[in-house]
Amino acid sequence: MSHASVHIVVRNTAPSDFAHIIELSRKIYPFGPPYNEAQLASQHRVFPEGQFVAIDRQSGALVGMAASLIVLWNDYDMRMNWRDFTNNGFFTNHDPLRGRTLYSAEVMVSPTHQRQGIGTKIYDARLVLARRLRLLRIRAGGRLRGYHRYADQLSAEDYAIKVVRGEIKDPTLSFQLKCGYHILAVVPNYLPKDPESLGWVAIIEWINEEVAKPEDYLGRDPRFQPPSEPLSRYP
Ligand SMILES: CC(C)(COP(=O)(O)OP(=O)(O)OC[C@H]1O[C@@H](n2cnc3c(N)ncnc32)[C@H](O)[C@@H]1OP(=O)(O)O)[C@@H](O)C(=O)NCCC(=O)NCCS
Repeated sequence: MSHASVHIVVRNTAPSDFAHIIELSRKIYPFGPPYNEAQLASQHRVFPEGQFVAIDRQSGALVGMAASLIVLWNDYDMRMNWRDFTNNGFFTNHDPLRGRTLYSAEVMVSPTHQRQGIGTKIYDARLVLARRLRLLRIRAGGRLRGYHRYADQLSAEDYAIKVVRGEIKDPTLSFQLKCGYHILAVVPNYLPKDPESLGWVAIIEWINEEVAKPEDYLGRDPRFQPPSEPLSRYP
């Protein structure tokens, strides 16, 4: 990893960032509508602390962003899609009173700035937030971005298992696993129009060990156990 990320500052999103985030989302998701002002303004209004941008201190450019909200996980089902978890990107389902799960709705790093540690820096800021709010966990749908290259040979689950074992590198899931996330399940139709993942995502989780109880680790599927992870975390 290069040291370019030392010039990067991660801070909470401000309304003046919206136009740059929209531009970034156009580049990252050419297959879908980009974010719009109304969605970003709503995210900012309901949970300003949960929205982050990465700024290059030298040029002032916005080079990354992440968006999150708090949900009560019991209100959802693993097989729901991005629109359900985020209320179509408006985050009006943000539920800080009942929820203990920080839902990671988005992370993007500018294509010309990837592989420089910026994504990791943004994820670190989110861990700090989850710990400060004493949340139990962070969950997300991690798109299986490289799956289209293997779809004729492997099921999406088998693809994810190979990524966990390091036999295949996936541009998004390998990043999330390196950041300490675990796979809970692999589900279809999350981003139905995504031509790279073909809609498939891994539902991933980071657990806050400061507040978690043994039962919070229950239900992990041993097929997704990383080689380095103790079996005790897969009861
Ligand atoms: C996923 C994403 C945010 C990662 O951001 P990033 O700034 O490139 O990530 P980092 O530089 O912090 O990478 C950390 C580690 O993740 C892994 N990683 C990151 N990109 C990778 C890639 N393209 N292929 C394989 N591994 C990768 C590497 O292990 C890397 O460490 P290393 O460079 O020392 O080997 C970025 O690639 C992105 O914006 N992708 C498109 C949007 C997207 O898919 N978002 C997720 C929605 S679910």
